[in-house]
Amino acid sequence: MKSNINLCVSIAGSDPTSGAGIQQDIKTMSKLGVICISIISCITYQNEKGVFGIYPLPFEVISKQIDIALKNIKIKFGKTGALGNEDGVKAAIKIIEKYGVNLVVDSVLQSKNGFPLISKEGFELMKKKLIPLSFFLTPNLNEAEKISEIKIEKKDDILKAGEKISKISKSFVIIKGGHKPEIPGLKNTEIVEDFLFFNGQFIKSLKKKRLDFQVHGTGCIFSAALTAFLARGFKPEIAFTKASQWTQKAIERSVQITKGSFNIFP
Ligand SMILES: Nc1ncnc2c1ncn2[C@@H]1O[C@H](COP(=O)(O)OP(=O)(O)OP(=O)(O)O)[C@@H](O)[C@H]1O
Ligand SMILES: [Mg+2]
Repeated sequence: MKSNINLCVSIAGSDPTSGAGIQQDIKTMSKLGVICISIISCITYQNEKGVFGIYPLPFEVISKQIDIALKNIKIKFGKTGALGNEDGVKAAIKIIEKYGVNLVVDSVLQSKNGFPLISKEGFELMKKKLIPLSFFLTPNLNEAEKISEIKIEKKDDILKAGEKISKISKSFVIIKGGHKPEIPGLKNTEIVEDFLFFNGQFIKSLKKKRLDFQVHGTGCIFSAALTAFLARGFKPEIAFTKASQWTQKAIERSVQITKGSFNIFP
């Protein structure tokens, strides 16, 4: 029997397709040898075409899950996913403040088909309070634009946005390059590039081959893998590289579930 298994916590939405959300966090962490304590912040209605609705849980319900699940265990690392509204954001803040967890904040704002996964007030609280408390922040290009208030039209804008955001958060920030293949300076549409920043400074970027799969959940897999590698003891810079490469492999292992639609099967 293994007695030194690593534990992480995820606070995120439920995705019935299990391609993203808390279900994907559990799958990814499990594959990486880490147990995922799963706190549900909201229920989503979705299928392989996208998200069609959201039911955020009230703070009391999320909070009760946290207090009972974390009562007897010490957890060093965790992550967030879709938080729904202010209640979800408040609950994530509680995980940091009351339980001392280092949180990878995946600043999910909307689904790939454009359905909002956080309210306006929730986003404001995330910017004001959760981001400054984060250990890692992992915005995609659209989220980086909204958080930094810098329009991203070329590669230099990504660097400016990352430096600005990581100065505010005083922590690690990864801007993920899965969106906007048309950005000039990202070389060409054959490449995706992820960028790492710390405390106002650009650290390094990683270029990968752009894969042509219609999948959702790439962001969840990435942040779950990052959290799992941190829990296993890898330093932040190494955990970034490993999570980015691992996500690439996971996308390559996607399986077709209906015509033209794939589910990532880590
Ligand atoms: N087409 C692709 N080919 C290869 N890697 C990709 C592709 N799309 C995304 N990635 C990788 O997946 C990870 C997540 O990036 P992405 O920009 O998709 O995040 P996201 O927008 O938050 O995802 P989601 O829509 O699931 O929330 C990054 O490491 C990124 O490089
Ligand atoms: Mg995302």
